[in-house]
Amino acid sequence: MARTHVIRVATAALVVVGLALAGSCARAPGLGHGDAQTDAPAPSGDNLPSYDGKDETPPTEGGGVQPLAFLLPGDLIGVSMPWQGTQNWAEAFAKFGPALEAAGLRAVVDDAGNDSGKQIQQIEAMIAQEAKVLVVGAVDGTQLGNVLDQAKDQGIIILGYDRMIDETTSVDGVVQYGAFTTGVMEGQALIQGLEEKGAAKPWTIELFAGAPTDPNATLFFEGAMSVLQPLIAAREIIVGSGETSFTEVATLEWANEKAQTRMESLLTSTYTDGVGPVGVLTPNDAISRAILTACEAGGFDLPVVDGLDAEDISIGWVREGRQYATVSKPTDQLIARTLVAINSLLTSPELPVPDFTHLNGVKDVGIYTLSPTIITQANIDEYYPCSKAKDAEQATNWKCN
Ligand code: BGC
Repeated sequence: MARTHVIRVATAALVVVGLALAGSCARAPGLGHGDAQTDAPAPSGDNLPSYDGKDETPPTEGGGVQPLAFLLPGDLIGVSMPWQGTQNWAEAFAKFGPALEAAGLRAVVDDAGNDSGKQIQQIEAMIAQEAKVLVVGAVDGTQLGNVLDQAKDQGIIILGYDRMIDETTSVDGVVQYGAFTTGVMEGQALIQGLEEKGAAKPWTIELFAGAPTDPNATLFFEGAMSVLQPLIAAREIIVGSGETSFTEVATLEWANEKAQTRMESLLTSTYTDGVGPVGVLTPNDAISRAILTACEAGGFDLPVVDGLDAEDISIGWVREGRQYATVSKPTDQLIARTLVAINSLLTSPELPVPDFTHLNGVKDVGIYTLSPTIITQANIDEYYPCSKAKDAEQATNWKCN
């Protein structure tokens, strides 16, 4: 059912006046107070590497902002998450509903269990329930075109969350930590760890990437390889197995057990003298821990590994020195940035001007971006101090006791 702009604009103006009188109109969403990641210093971007411009193209004339539609308090927001297999997605699944309700909206939040077909059905159901905004973390960045076109035909506003949505003009904006930049940091963290370890060059390493369906995974890998490739070309780094293409090193469905199996077979096929790789590039914490577990189980020295997500268990592993680094991209901040975009529709029919645009194959999509942060033992007590662990379980996972 198409939305009737004029009526909604008039009604929205009345409601906005009412809300302003009630003193709650411009209220920022009340997110995660007391949560350790919220209380930790916001990543400052101080350690941002120099870009090659891959994530970021300045917005085009007019900021690419198109008039969309007003939201009304009580409107339904559909949140479609890809799975809950890593801490960041489980947290987003749990926190989006309360955050939207705190902003005076209603929410339906689904988890697609890593199944693109299921995600399409869930989005169809959200369209049928007359959601006004869809927030989508795509299972497969290329498969949502048709269902999002249907949503767009109904006047629904579509925001990508964390992952790009490719090959469709229906997406209105994406909120994310720059994926290429995140990958650059993963590569930098690995090099920094190898330097600190003082291992003799050439360094023998292995490479791992995430799920081929996830647009972040290719960008993480490209970002990391922009750091590693020159060193590989200079023979300062050797990839022991010779497996260097994304297809060879990808981990189907982000399944850490698959990464562990690949690492085990690399260790037995390539490192027969019992000396393992000195470093391993990994796309996220779950895979970092799988790789370290494979090395430990095989009796190999632990390699330097990077990571991503600052998962509670990996914060503990970094503190203990088992995992060299992780890259932090706090979910609370990503949700809060998404809420700012959604809330702006309560007072204007436009999304805020994006920070950058990114070509998704067919459209320059506006990106609302946040800066990730490399976490190592050197700054872990600044970002994840034990005094900020939110409960005993988190303190245990962080190895604070
Ligand atoms: C997210 C990562 C996460 C991975 C697997 C990616 O799209 O950016 O934070 O580790 O999905 O769930």
